[in-house]
Amino acid sequence: MDKVRIGVIGVGGMGYSHSKAVKSLADTELTCVSDTEKAVAKEKGEEFGVGYFTDYRELIKSGLCDAVIVATPHWIHPEVSVFAFENGLHVLSEKPLAVTVSGADEMIDAAKRNKKVFAVMYQRRTEPAIRKAIEIVKSGILGEIQRTLLVNPDFRPQAYYDSGIWRATWLGEGGGVLINQAPHGIDIFMRLGGLPVRVEAKTRTKLHKIEVEDEASAFLEYGNGAWGYYYTSTCEGCGGLHLELAGDKGKLVLKGEELKLYRFSQPVSEFSVSSEDMWAVPEVKEEDVELPSDVAAGHSVIIENFARAILHGELLVAPGEDGLRSVEFINALILSGRKGKCVEIPVDRTEYDGFIEEMKKTSKPKEVVNVKRITDPRASKSYRNYSGG
Ligand SMILES: NC(=O)c1ccc[n+]([C@@H]2O[C@H](COP(=O)([O-])OP(=O)(O)OC[C@H]3O[C@@H](n4cnc5c(N)ncnc54)[C@H](O)[C@@H]3O)[C@@H](O)[C@H]2O)c1
Repeated sequence: MDKVRIGVIGVGGMGYSHSKAVKSLADTELTCVSDTEKAVAKEKGEEFGVGYFTDYRELIKSGLCDAVIVATPHWIHPEVSVFAFENGLHVLSEKPLAVTVSGADEMIDAAKRNKKVFAVMYQRRTEPAIRKAIEIVKSGILGEIQRTLLVNPDFRPQAYYDSGIWRATWLGEGGGVLINQAPHGIDIFMRLGGLPVRVEAKTRTKLHKIEVEDEASAFLEYGNGAWGYYYTSTCEGCGGLHLELAGDKGKLVLKGEELKLYRFSQPVSEFSVSSEDMWAVPEVKEEDVELPSDVAAGHSVIIENFARAILHGELLVAPGEDGLRSVEFINALILSGRKGKCVEIPVDRTEYDGFIEEMKKTSKPKEVVNVKRITDPRASKSYRNYSGG
């Protein structure tokens, strides 16, 4: 196989953009597209000069592709992905992997059972500052993490929510800001700081006319006893990502694309007992952090990496299994916020499935929808000033 033949399922905003990337990359060939909206499937199929389907099962069984990119609304990611794996195809799923942890489990199991390459579109992992932050955390320079923080608002106007029938509904999306805009930040947070074992969250609908949350805040507890804080919303005018990891030996601060590393002269745990001066604090030195300047970043890098994993066994930047961690975190916060109680991680699969079925029953059809399938222009231009979703 010289090139991976790829079919894109769901050619709305994101799927259309991925189709263009697949067509232009060296290791991939776009062979077909699928969308439940016949006019959309036909228009995109004809534009790219490839076969088109309205039923994703027909695309998967067509023999036209070796792999699929799943860019449908999240509810259907597990169903489509499992069907693709069972029929011998590799899968690159859009984020979030699934609306529920049990859905994400099914995808991971099916990939393993069928021995297929499985990746998730967490393209922010390719950004220079994130690559460097991962390297720093892996090196152990920070010592044992004692406290974490992520503040990650990402504004959306009402027009965004009114652009799709599925958006910001329990039935169509399974949550609000946590399940749609926040996953990229959460993926980075989990990748660097690890998954907490317990969360206590508050969620609410503050600004928008939607049935799901547009603001969430949580207190986190980790396995080693460390504490953490999390905030996201689509209500704040000035978005961005502010992440902190405070370790025993140092502290890492990621603000937008700026990464700062502070190292302590002595581990805090040692200094605390050895210092005889009642007002002493450990000496702190800010280290220069050089970011890789010549690396490509963005969605195309993940698609290219996915193709090379299929062709040459290249290590995945964002393996599908990693996508489960953010779904655990998201489900835990949604459940905790709605029920007003602490939630343990791993999330109880049966409880969450029951909870989400109850929420779906409360879902109301949207009255006025001005359907638009447009990718966020910030996502296609560059990763700069773009926090995802
Ligand atoms: N990685 C990122 O940066 C990023 C950015 C935006 C969206 N996304 C994700 O991409 C996914 C799609 O979001 P979008 O903004 O492109 O939405 P969209 O509404 O613009 O497009 C979704 C498309 O899927 C089609 N569809 C629905 N059910 C289908 C099915 N069963 N089979 C085939 N097609 C089907 C719809 O008709 C629509 O054309 C979501 O999961 C979202 O979270 C990721």
